[in-house]
Amino acid sequence: MDVLHTKAEMRAWSRARRKGGLRIGFVPTMGFLHDGHLSLIDRARAGADRVVVSIFVNPTQFAPGEDLDRYPRDLQGDLRKCRARNVDAVFLPTPAEMYPPDAATTVHVPTLARPLCGRDRPTHFAGVCTIVTKLFNVVQPDVAAFGEKDFQQLAIVRRMTRDLDLPIEIVGGPIVREPDGLAMSSRNANLTPDQRREAVALSKGLAAARAIWDAGGRDPRALEAAARAVVEAAAGAEIDYVEARHPDDLTAIEGKVDRAVLALAVRFGGTRLIDNAVFEA
Ligand code: PAF
Repeated sequence: MDVLHTKAEMRAWSRARRKGGLRIGFVPTMGFLHDGHLSLIDRARAGADRVVVSIFVNPTQFAPGEDLDRYPRDLQGDLRKCRARNVDAVFLPTPAEMYPPDAATTVHVPTLARPLCGRDRPTHFAGVCTIVTKLFNVVQPDVAAFGEKDFQQLAIVRRMTRDLDLPIEIVGGPIVREPDGLAMSSRNANLTPDQRREAVALSKGLAAARAIWDAGGRDPRALEAAARAVVEAAAGAEIDYVEARHPDDLTAIEGKVDRAVLALAVRFGGTRLIDNAVFEA
């Protein structure tokens, strides 16, 4: 497995493989890899001959006061996991390598970035779009895999890739869950044992909404209320949002619907967790 630190090394690596006719799959990550990331590596590999993983805790997607400094890190563990998963190259740039001091250009997808996480984190998705665009330009993948847990991020990356004519196929990977239902996330490591126990309320809330949907309930407000009631009962849970929206463009929905994504963001102390479920008739 090659470990590359500079944009020039990464570009040269990709150029050589592409010249040889090989397709490159890419999984951008912020590290502290879990089974969700590993499943994305498998998805990227399914559409490619070589797989690149980037590990970069991107400072521009964190606002001041968010958890940039507390974001969990374990570089040696991550490299071990990538090696064991037959990753071909890991790209490990520093912030200085990725961002010149006078960097002034950002990428925005304002309509999709405004609701849900964008309300509490208004600069977050511009940071994501900017780094993903830059990583795409450096890694030059044919296919890139993103997790469906970050439903809004995946929708935004798909739209950005389409709008900017980036020649990259975006594939989504299903949410991978712990045995009790908690969606895997690097941030789970920051939960205290009590918070970890209570955090299962997110997936339980989605299950309560699913029960309503399966019984024929089609009112987005009823789905939200069912999930909200479960999350509100969890000790220490502070809800940022529980919202049902259109799964394609994240627009508001009401009345009787035949498709919806129910998305949640909940804080336990300083740790913010997200989860979602898609409902289709
Ligand atoms: O989902 C993430 O881990 C990050 O938002 C990403 C896509 C790697 C960009 O920094």
